[in-house]
Amino acid sequence: MSRKPLRVGMIGYGFMGRAHSNAYKQVGQFFPSEHQVVLKAACARNADLVKPFAEQWGYESVETDWRKLVERKDIDVVDICTPNNLHKEIALAAAAAGKMILCEKPLAMNAAEGQVMVDAVEKAKVANMVWYNYRRIPAVSLAKKLIEEGRLGKIFHYRAKFLQDWTIKSDLPQGGQGLWRLDAAAAGSGVSGDLLAHCIDTAIWLNGRLDTVCCMTETFVKERMHTLTGKVEKVEIDDACIFMGKFANGSLANFESTRYARGHKAQYTFEINGEDMSISWDLHDLHRLQIFDYKTESKLRAWSSIHVTDNGGEHPYMDKWWVPGLAVGYDTSFTHQVADFIKGLETGTPQGPTFRDALETQQILDAILDSAKSQKWVTVAK
Ligand SMILES: NC(=O)c1ccc[n+]([C@@H]2O[C@H](COP(=O)([O-])OP(=O)(O)OC[C@H]3O[C@@H](n4cnc5c(N)ncnc54)[C@H](O)[C@@H]3O)[C@@H](O)[C@H]2O)c1
Repeated sequence: MSRKPLRVGMIGYGFMGRAHSNAYKQVGQFFPSEHQVVLKAACARNADLVKPFAEQWGYESVETDWRKLVERKDIDVVDICTPNNLHKEIALAAAAAGKMILCEKPLAMNAAEGQVMVDAVEKAKVANMVWYNYRRIPAVSLAKKLIEEGRLGKIFHYRAKFLQDWTIKSDLPQGGQGLWRLDAAAAGSGVSGDLLAHCIDTAIWLNGRLDTVCCMTETFVKERMHTLTGKVEKVEIDDACIFMGKFANGSLANFESTRYARGHKAQYTFEINGEDMSISWDLHDLHRLQIFDYKTESKLRAWSSIHVTDNGGEHPYMDKWWVPGLAVGYDTSFTHQVADFIKGLETGTPQGPTFRDALETQQILDAILDSAKSQKWVTVAK
């Protein structure tokens, strides 16, 4: 079959640059479609570093100025894998150049920036998507299916946590390569935009709009050496963030994220309690979905663990992988996202989260940070 090329230009070659490159290489093998991804160019500021990356992953060329990459006629899709403070500028230039855009999360530094980005892609009518990849872990997609089938009944509670422990050392600097997440000028916020953004995206996808929030944040280490200035500077990001809220469907929200939970590296968990069923999921055991089905006859009623590996069409995405019982990992959530992006192009029905979908997460992030500052309940802007 002769396939239509989908020529990708990737900006940034760090953690996400690798995760996305892997997905682009896998997608054509496991999710064949009318399109064939072509790794056209990789871009980063340092040619000596980006060249070996491009060679390792099979990119045809390199650029050291993202503006040049965006202007190239032989690029169809711009993939933004840079720190958050560059998302808007690159996306606006890419939209103006008529490129499709895949942008890493969070969409922007705040909702005002996000709105400008939404306006730009909608005006330019370019396909767009944000890499909230956890939606596409098969067990999480199965949770969505169970909710859509109405199996949970009325939902009362949604609780989520994202726990890490890598910034506890007070002599860890802020800013620059690898540490931009601690620098508010590059990251916008701390664990809220970095980690809770994922929890919020999954939550609004599974459980609908979040209307009001009340939040508390803490910055445990108040000053850190800044790698770029060489000076000790105030830390402006949130190290920990805890918020509660109310969803439009009446259920109560309970969210927590921190980089100070000793022993936890990336423990993203959620639990949803409905009248007829509860479900829970843990990133450390990502191919399992735990369910408690109250409709089961009482003598057999129990929490059970679904191994989400059935390839008979019942478990999302799994018909494209191995045989039942064999799990897939974190990396495949990105492959599934590329496959769905291409499906959106081929069916004419864009697959979410689009920039507009991701703006809602940005509005919630603004509301929780406003609430932490004012110490008051805040209504999420619509
Ligand atoms: N979807 C997810 O699960 C997930 C996970 C991690 C990070 N992210 C997001 O991905 C983005 C990148 O994070 P990361 O962990 O890959 O960071 P990283 O530090 O590993 O990589 C960032 C890359 O951006 C490059 N870069 C910085 N400034 C640049 C410029 N002016 N021009 C070109 N390249 C530039 C750096 O050289 C580096 O290659 C962030 O927005 C982050 O929030 C998402």
